[in-house]
Amino acid sequence: MSVPVTGRASADAGESAWHAAWLPPAAFRELGSRGVLVHGDGLLVDTVLDEVSRACARYGGRVWHGPPWQVDAELVLALREAGPVPNAVAEAARLGATPAVNGTGGGALGDEGYLLARVNGVTVVLADAPAGLLYGMFHVVRLGAAAFDDDLPPRRHRPALDRRMLDHWDNVAVHPVSGQVERGYAGGSLFWRDGAARREPARLRDYARLLAACGVNAISVNNVNVHDTEALLLTDRLGDVAEIAEVLRPYGIRVHLAVTFAAPVVLGGLPTADPLDERVRAWWAAATRRVYQRIPDFGGYLVKADSEGRPGPFAYGRDHADGANLLAEALAPHGGVVRWRAFVYDHRQDWRDRSTDRARAAHDHFAPLDGRFADNVILQVKFGPIDFQAREPVSPVLAAMPATRLAVEVQATQEYTGQQRHVCYLGPWWSEVLRFRPWGAAGDTIADVAAGRAGAGGGLVAVSNVGDDPFWTGHPLAQANLYAFGRLAWDPLLDPGAILDEWIDLTWLPVTKGDPAPVRRTMHAIMDDSWRTYERYTAPLGVGFMVRPGHHYGPDVDGYEYTPWGTYHFADRDGVGVDRTRATGTGFTDQYPPPWSEVYESRERCPDELLLFFHHVPYRHVLHSGRTVIQHIYDTHFAGVEEVAAMRERWRLVAGAVDPAVHDRVAERLDEQFRSAVEWRDQINTYFFRKSGVPDAHGRRIH
Ligand code: GCU
Repeated sequence: MSVPVTGRASADAGESAWHAAWLPPAAFRELGSRGVLVHGDGLLVDTVLDEVSRACARYGGRVWHGPPWQVDAELVLALREAGPVPNAVAEAARLGATPAVNGTGGGALGDEGYLLARVNGVTVVLADAPAGLLYGMFHVVRLGAAAFDDDLPPRRHRPALDRRMLDHWDNVAVHPVSGQVERGYAGGSLFWRDGAARREPARLRDYARLLAACGVNAISVNNVNVHDTEALLLTDRLGDVAEIAEVLRPYGIRVHLAVTFAAPVVLGGLPTADPLDERVRAWWAAATRRVYQRIPDFGGYLVKADSEGRPGPFAYGRDHADGANLLAEALAPHGGVVRWRAFVYDHRQDWRDRSTDRARAAHDHFAPLDGRFADNVILQVKFGPIDFQAREPVSPVLAAMPATRLAVEVQATQEYTGQQRHVCYLGPWWSEVLRFRPWGAAGDTIADVAAGRAGAGGGLVAVSNVGDDPFWTGHPLAQANLYAFGRLAWDPLLDPGAILDEWIDLTWLPVTKGDPAPVRRTMHAIMDDSWRTYERYTAPLGVGFMVRPGHHYGPDVDGYEYTPWGTYHFADRDGVGVDRTRATGTGFTDQYPPPWSEVYESRERCPDELLLFFHHVPYRHVLHSGRTVIQHIYDTHFAGVEEVAAMRERWRLVAGAVDPAVHDRVAERLDEQFRSAVEWRDQINTYFFRKSGVPDAHGRRIH
């Protein structure tokens, strides 16, 4: 059958009340103006067909899907298993890529991979499974005109990480402290409002498209802090979760649920949630069975246990392996996984106690348990040992558990990086983390750890930065973080600058008025280095925090200094920083394998940007840069503010070229960023000037 290509109702995001982000209709212009053949069947192939049909309806192309095949396609999107393709070039490519012919073995493209080539005027995407076809189609969209220019030698594309997940910290009911979305800076939740499911499938479908187009394939739909209403998603409110799964499924996204470890008590009426109790095991098995009856492709559970007051196995004298394995056992028959978070520490610490070090906590708790977790347990580890700061060393847990499936968790929601009021492109930071080699230059990277052996790793996870804001992420430029997350999870070796370029190409250039070059230049000039700019005007040299307690926005140098949270900087009149050495400090450096255990232990060898994370040093300590610590603090804080001022200027200059609504929103955010950066600069500089008594070598104004 040939698919009608005119008169279709268009649900293009560009015509909606929300921003099209990286899929404005014009991003499909090249694809949509061709003859396109889609070969194969299945739910996700239907999605491909729908995308292609809409694009072709808009831009004058043609679509074929089934006989009669009198076609002259310029783009062929085919499942290899669907049999011969009625296009000579594509068929030759299919035969050439077929395992029997090239000897690469069955399933060489995997569940999500594809082969892309352009030969003799035909662009061919071949896949072994429908998801691969979908990802291949989005690749063609990314390439734009380049997909139809010169020949492209056949290349196989497969995700480096099988699990590419976004965790929403969304509450169903508005929480008195954390609101509708915990640490959310983009309005309300896409899923929930005031205690009920939103049931807005059009917006959710657009969200799923955006995620699939950057490679995300899993999502959890509620906050890791599972409160009373949210606990019910596992049972009474399961229908709401099933409805979300229904909308996300055509884009290859599997739904997960955050559950409370106390569920057998709070939902099941049992007297205990002890993981070794038979009744508890039976309860989880039955509850999980019901989940899979409703949602056959359900991904699994996400659990925050014995952390910041959440219930967990400790109450029963059991450990985290006992707890995680309990849920793993219930999920195993259905192919699900339990994602158990390693974010466990004492949040009721006495600040006078210098022997307890929050940075040590995850390793102390979990490293001894290596080898004890069931196969379908994924331990989800925050990338750093403390809590999503703009600079931290990589968590030593990621190098300490070779017999455990590990996932790396980053934070797209900008809790500690400017709360989507500041521009802070996190691609370079995540890239640095993923490329880090805990065992030294010859060893694996963190990306290798997340990939695991034979694809068995836990993958990459980000806490979502999305809400019901018309621009999805509050700050329109924060969309780039979501996009970069997906792309880095697909290929951690991608260059973050190139990812930004892709995002600019897809999001802005198709809708730019006039010459696109200045817009591209401006975006790069503002965003490329924006994470380092943020780092410059906030807490110095890796020491972290110094934010307002509670909401975590803006400076408050001593805000956490005398609290129970374990986040201290120990500044006094002589120096600043946390001594985490084994020689004289908390011994945290010992949690790293060599060479880092030695590098971090040594004041001389420790990288400047982490110096105050590992060492307490005098203000006049000289950095590798040649500057003293105190002068570095002054210099970076003055420089950071100047950089933000320059961003503001640059943005003004592109006023006529981008949509006025977007321009206004970004301009308003840049004003706030500038105000806030000045506040940071003045508080930090003044604080350290008063503590140290050391004047600025350049005589600039310090209050
Ligand atoms: C941070 C954040 C909390 C969140 C926690 C977590 O501490 O401030 O809001 O619940 O991380 O990751 O569980």
